[in-house]
Amino acid sequence: MNMIKVSKLFYIEVAMADMTTTDQLKIPKHVAIIMDGNGRWAKKQGKNRTYGHKSGSDNLKVIARAASDMGIKYLTVYAFSTENWKRPSTEVSFLMGLLRQYLKDSIKNAKKDNMRVVVIGRRSDLDPDIREAIESLEVASKNHTGLTLQIAINYGGRDEIIRAIKAYEIEKEKHPDIELDEKLFGDFLDTKDIPDPELMIRTSGEVRSSNFLIWQLAYSEFFFVKKHWPEFTSDDLMEAIKAYNKVSRRFGGLKDES
Ligand code: IPE
Ligand code: IPE
Ligand code: MG
Repeated sequence: MNMIKVSKLFYIEVAMADMTTTDQLKIPKHVAIIMDGNGRWAKKQGKNRTYGHKSGSDNLKVIARAASDMGIKYLTVYAFSTENWKRPSTEVSFLMGLLRQYLKDSIKNAKKDNMRVVVIGRRSDLDPDIREAIESLEVASKNHTGLTLQIAINYGGRDEIIRAIKAYEIEKEKHPDIELDEKLFGDFLDTKDIPDPELMIRTSGEVRSSNFLIWQLAYSEFFFVKKHWPEFTSDDLMEAIKAYNKVSRRFGGLKDES
């Protein structure tokens, strides 16, 4: 086995057959994750769905730290979709309580890990105290230079695009000369200033995007894992990165540009 240094903290073992001696593992700048399967994971063990959500929230702390140690710069995670309000109100309340706690804990953790936290999604539907917790966390962590953890809360890709169009229309009224193109449109999205993900991972076996980052994932590599989110480990993250390294990214062209 050959040890490759991918960042100052994280070493992986790669079989010699996997690589040439000069190969360097390319770490994507931005990884997006649909953290799915909390409920099924809990049910499998005879527990209720809330137990799965709590374990899922604990696992996010572990994976965010691992991502940071691997040298990933941006990690975007799908925590609550615009469609998740359809769930029973008891489950929605539990999820909102968990988010509250996560945001609170993150002030301390973000400082310790030099992590910047930002939130995307439609905030107006969230309880005022959750909106305040988001703002406090964003302000407290805005100068941290390590991993940027982008949490999608009450997020839907279609909703984000509609909000972006509305914001653009207001700007166009003020500056009739501006011309819309892909770059400018990106500036009206919640994810402005953050590069598109190179890699998107979904746990739990579903092979769909469920309204996640539908603009930003246009050219991302997708990696679907059978494991449920609470059992997804840093080794699984590294497996996804290794798979990403084997892909030839052509962006519509003919040459391997990866
Ligand atoms: C993901 O797990 C968490 C949220 C969507 C909030 P699920 O709650 O979707 O778990 P499954 O897919 O029902 O197992
Ligand atoms: C996607 O998972 C949303 C989150 C992980 C937050 P869902 O469980 O809500 O997606 P569907 O219903 O299987 O498409
Ligand atoms: Mg699900």
